[in-house]
Amino acid sequence: METQIFKIESPCADAEALEQAGAIIQNGGLVAFPTETVYGLGGNALDAASSAKIFSAKGRPQDNPLIVHIADMEQLDVLCHDIPDAARALANAYWPGPLTMVLPKNNCLPDTTTAGLDTVGIRMPAHPVARALIRCAGVPIAAPSANRSGKPSTTSFAHVLRDMEGRINAIIDGGKSEVGLESTVIEFDGNRARILRPGYITQEDIEAVLGPGMCLIAPGVREHVADGERVRSPGMKYRHYAPSAPVLAICGEARDVAREMQRRARGHENCAAIICDEYAQALPCRTIACGPQGDYAAQAHRLFDALRQLDRPEIDFILAQCPDEYGLGMAIANRLKRAAAFHVVQARHGCVLGLTGPTGAGKSAACAVFAERGAQILDCDALYHKMLETDETLLKTLYEIFPSAFRDGQFDRHALGKLVFSDPAALAQLNAAVLPLVRTRVETEITRADASGTDVLVLDAPTLFESGIDALCDFTLAVLAPPQLRIARISARDGLDGAYARLRVEGGQDDDFYLTRCDASVVNDGRLETLRAQIQTIWDRLFYGGKKS
Ligand code: TXA
Ligand code: MG
Repeated sequence: METQIFKIESPCADAEALEQAGAIIQNGGLVAFPTETVYGLGGNALDAASSAKIFSAKGRPQDNPLIVHIADMEQLDVLCHDIPDAARALANAYWPGPLTMVLPKNNCLPDTTTAGLDTVGIRMPAHPVARALIRCAGVPIAAPSANRSGKPSTTSFAHVLRDMEGRINAIIDGGKSEVGLESTVIEFDGNRARILRPGYITQEDIEAVLGPGMCLIAPGVREHVADGERVRSPGMKYRHYAPSAPVLAICGEARDVAREMQRRARGHENCAAIICDEYAQALPCRTIACGPQGDYAAQAHRLFDALRQLDRPEIDFILAQCPDEYGLGMAIANRLKRAAAFHVVQARHGCVLGLTGPTGAGKSAACAVFAERGAQILDCDALYHKMLETDETLLKTLYEIFPSAFRDGQFDRHALGKLVFSDPAALAQLNAAVLPLVRTRVETEITRADASGTDVLVLDAPTLFESGIDALCDFTLAVLAPPQLRIARISARDGLDGAYARLRVEGGQDDDFYLTRCDASVVNDGRLETLRAQIQTIWDRLFYGGKKS
């Protein structure tokens, strides 16, 4: 099918094109048109065949009803009956505008339009071209969003062209949709409203008309409804708004979200992010700035375009900042969570710094400086040794691999040490079995510290990279020192002679191992003031904008 394009900027200036588009709908054809929310894919709502064409052009499931658009209040009473006073009050307040009301339908509306329901969603759009089109068509217009089913709704002519060219009779190019998210859908329980899909008209807006407590939020708006559970609005059960790559929605303060994204993006070249303007520069991956922090109108306006821009085969996953759920934030969060198939995480509040380095470099001294500044320290070696005493999973694993490290059922650390000391294969086997368990335990400790409000947690982890604990960190720091100094420290600390201490130093990883893997390094040459000064610089980098001191 050849798709005709009409460019219509205003109903008055382009009256002829509007007449033609209206005639297409009157004759049973489909026309995509701009509204203030998103573009609609319109057909004659009174004609079952037209509605059937809409379902097939979109690839829409048959049980998901269409919204019927009207241009005048009189049409409401033609299409619906038993209209509650609350609905009339809301129509007076917010029509024309981004509010759809589900009401008992009259028989003039065919079952195909409403997917067999005895109710219909009615909306009077505010966009002048949309209303003029309805008047020209002379019939109410059934119109879902003009996107292929499951994809983000279309908020520009280019989006519609991409999804619908060749599938429908015409597209009206009317510029960008102002709101950018679909209308708020509500149903009534007497004179109380219930939001089935949040949108530009918020719960607060509705209660301003109906009174406090007179607008509820349906289950499925903020959280996932279990498969098979009945939903009030059929559209809520489908995967929606989704680019091809999986999306993860991240909630929390913007600064924390930025840090969470940075950590999750590290090492993943093909990931992408959507975050507010203030933090968009800071991320190491392809990033779309979705508007100023807290400016939900700007974020709503850009969201679907951002999701579409990231709908590209080379992108592996998408991290998206999820706003707080009040006001318009509820609508944005709802679309994002659904794009993410309800994969939602809370950003970690505190910063986790992984501190590592070769033996004798003075990691403990560096930790002490962090502790002076109020950081909490987690000694991963001590944690491992505690696990050797108390962690049954770990002991069971060790028993399976090294039964001879146990005497009378009791674990003997020295026996294990002897087994792996001069046998690299055995040591590798030990590490492969034990390090993942330690890592999991460290993860639990991080969660615990975060829940208790820790701002900075330093992991003192000699095997930071070998154990994979680095992936849990926001920042990694190497503590290095000249070899002579390390030999002297080891001799003093462990009571070893110089030659043996030298062997220990030479047998470990060299400085390059740490320098190539860590985000930063400090040199601990034994002077506390120099160490403090270096750590001050690191500390400032941990907080975007240096908010903490
Ligand atoms: O802003 C909008 O509402 C846009 C523009 C084009 O007006 N339209 C739109 O339509 O978003 P659509 O079909 O993509 O979404 C309609 C939503 C679906 O979630 C559907 O399940 C729900 O409204 N809905 C429609 N009629 C309903 C009914 N009778 N009962 C419950 N939910 C209904
Ligand atoms: Mg839709």
